[in-house]
Amino acid sequence: MEKKIVIAIDGYSSCGKSTMAKDLARAIGYIYIDSGAMYRAVTLYALQHGLFSGGDIDAEGLRRQMGDIRIGFRLNPQSGRPDTYLNGTNVEGRIRTLEVSAHVSPIATLDFVRQALVEQQRQLGQDKGIVMDGRDIGTTVFPQAELKVFVTASPQIRAQRRYDELKAKGLEADYDDILANVEQRDYIDQHRAVSPLRRADDALLLDNSHMSIDEQKQWLLEQYARVMDGLNTQEA
Ligand code: DC
Repeated sequence: MEKKIVIAIDGYSSCGKSTMAKDLARAIGYIYIDSGAMYRAVTLYALQHGLFSGGDIDAEGLRRQMGDIRIGFRLNPQSGRPDTYLNGTNVEGRIRTLEVSAHVSPIATLDFVRQALVEQQRQLGQDKGIVMDGRDIGTTVFPQAELKVFVTASPQIRAQRRYDELKAKGLEADYDDILANVEQRDYIDQHRAVSPLRRADDALLLDNSHMSIDEQKQWLLEQYARVMDGLNTQEA
């Protein structure tokens, strides 16, 4: 049987990481896990349970309820991609709204939330054969990942992509609000005390501002093939 590896794809919000990661996983028959969806699911839970007042999170209340939050993924046969479930309910649509996007960063700064989710993420990857995207996958979750990529693109291009994505789903969207949200999340992601967003020393850098989805897919497949060749040569 061919050896399986762990592939970590980190980077800024809305830079097309998920699309790349999903396409790669599908092409090579790996499991795809969107770790951001897990932080979004916790955020949705907090919103649904009155744990926010304005932008402020009741951290102690959430800590007490962490044990009641079950997050899972199930393959959606129509899209061929995993949908996110929160306590048995499909929340894939609800976790992508601007309301959740606007509240997720404070949740992602809480150490007990990160500890719980990192633990689950490591379990999901224990048999390898996984592509996971997020912010700290190559630095914290899987520092031993055989292939690490750090993706970036300009904030304006990322805001435009998220705007197009929401519009395509028939959801409300305002470009300026989205740009402000992208910039604010970049700041919080890079400056938080626990697992701030940073490129792992051994991660390949990909600026996809001016690349098509197909070009990125091709590039990533080449990196995968290169790593696999290296492993096979080492073993031979
Ligand atoms: O990738 P995304 O936009 O769906 O991520 C949602 C939020 O979760 C984002 O503000 C950063 C945070 N996140 C994180 O802190 N660590 C991860 N591994 C993934 C996401």
